[in-house]
Amino acid sequence: MMWQRMRERWREGERERLFWVLIIVLWSCNDNRLAYISSEPTPYKLEEPANFVKMQIPADNPLTKEGIALGERLFFDPILSADSSLSCASCHIPSLAFTDGKARSVGVGGKTVRRSAPSLINVGYHYKGLFWDGRVQSLEMQALMPVVDHSEMDNSWEVAEERLRRHSDYPILFRRAFGIRRTSDIDRYLAAKALAQFERTLVNHNSKFDRVQRGDAKFTADEKRGWQIFFDDSQELPTSECGHCHIDPLFTTLGFFNNGIEQVNTLGDFRDKGLGAVTGHISDNGKFRTPTLRNIMLTAPYMHDGRFATLDEVFDHYISGGHFADNVNPNVRKLRLREQDKKDLIAFLQTLTDSTFVNYSVPGSSGADLSLQ
Ligand code: HEC
Ligand code: HEC
Repeated sequence: MMWQRMRERWREGERERLFWVLIIVLWSCNDNRLAYISSEPTPYKLEEPANFVKMQIPADNPLTKEGIALGERLFFDPILSADSSLSCASCHIPSLAFTDGKARSVGVGGKTVRRSAPSLINVGYHYKGLFWDGRVQSLEMQALMPVVDHSEMDNSWEVAEERLRRHSDYPILFRRAFGIRRTSDIDRYLAAKALAQFERTLVNHNSKFDRVQRGDAKFTADEKRGWQIFFDDSQELPTSECGHCHIDPLFTTLGFFNNGIEQVNTLGDFRDKGLGAVTGHISDNGKFRTPTLRNIMLTAPYMHDGRFATLDEVFDHYISGGHFADNVNPNVRKLRLREQDKKDLIAFLQTLTDSTFVNYSVPGSSGADLSLQ
């Protein structure tokens, strides 16, 4: 019946109108095809080290296999940047413990970011605020920012959302991860949720240090001496004060401190005010979040602006006691460490290298069936 009538109309010269009706029908079928793809996200159980505090995962973004796979795909896909040249992984490279090896990161069009890319190892445990100045509270909020930051991906979310909606794989991946019904349901907040899920899986607890803690390995004599100096553990050895701020298991208290790297006349003079720009308290100027020392051999150059190229330079800084300012933490003070002490400390820091993600195989863009491993 229907076909007959259509053929008649076709002959009656209604071709043009029918053509458009067909286009609309096809278009809406295309969008509805998602409804036929099953969406039952599989809960993912994160393997958490016994000696870590439990990761706080927001109730509205539980980890699922499909959510993590989508986040992983997005993390390595340059689709989010204005000219499709940079992905998150361009500045957070797995083999460098998710840093980029640069003093300060370089964004789209060669623009320099004001700070150094921090490691994303164990970032799911950074519950005292993200970024060097702690200005953002959740990974979900954070993931929205690089895309529109002019010195990073320099895009707009409207453009990024449109690209994801039109992509051959993403609508299906978003459907599987979040049960969206139409491609137009894809938005920045779901993309950010997926990225956050992926980032929460970047847990590192398999360094030699961890194996020694578990009784599965032994420190060499040098490493042991370095460990004792690091944690001020022996009356016979000099103190270093490092362990006050870089405490295990994360090798950071996540606290914000001025560790004396910047020479200033007054607290108002810091080029980068760090925490002070967030809280508005002048006594917070020049304070930055204590970074983890896990994988420190992979994450040079060091500090929020990458000012030290080597660990040797870092030690020379701490041994000198740094530059004075009213708010420098008292644990940063002149140290009596000799050349051998420094060597042993570096031997100990080498035991914090974890190769779990070093040979990370970057997911291809070959289809929708990406699983975690
Ligand atoms: C152009 C380089 C660049 C790109 C691209 C980039 N980042 Fe970053 N990322 C940085 C820098 C630099 C910082 C530190 C900025 C600051 O502290 O102000 C940072 C900080 C972070 C942090 C905070 C980590 C912590 O411990 O506080 C997270 C999480 C993060 N980025 C995730 C991402 C994600 C997800 C993407 C992709 C959507 C991304 N980044 C893209 C350079 C980059
Ligand atoms: C008062 C707390 C404190 C003490 C004590 C301390 N640090 Fe730090 N450390 C910090 C802070 C804060 C930063 C980041 C400063 C910045 O970038 O402006 C930092 C940065 C570092 C970095 C650079 C990490 C990176 O990813 O860029 C290394 C390496 C480091 N510290 C090693 C040590 C060692 C070794 C000792 C002992 C000799 C030590 N720290 C003592 C707070 C401390």
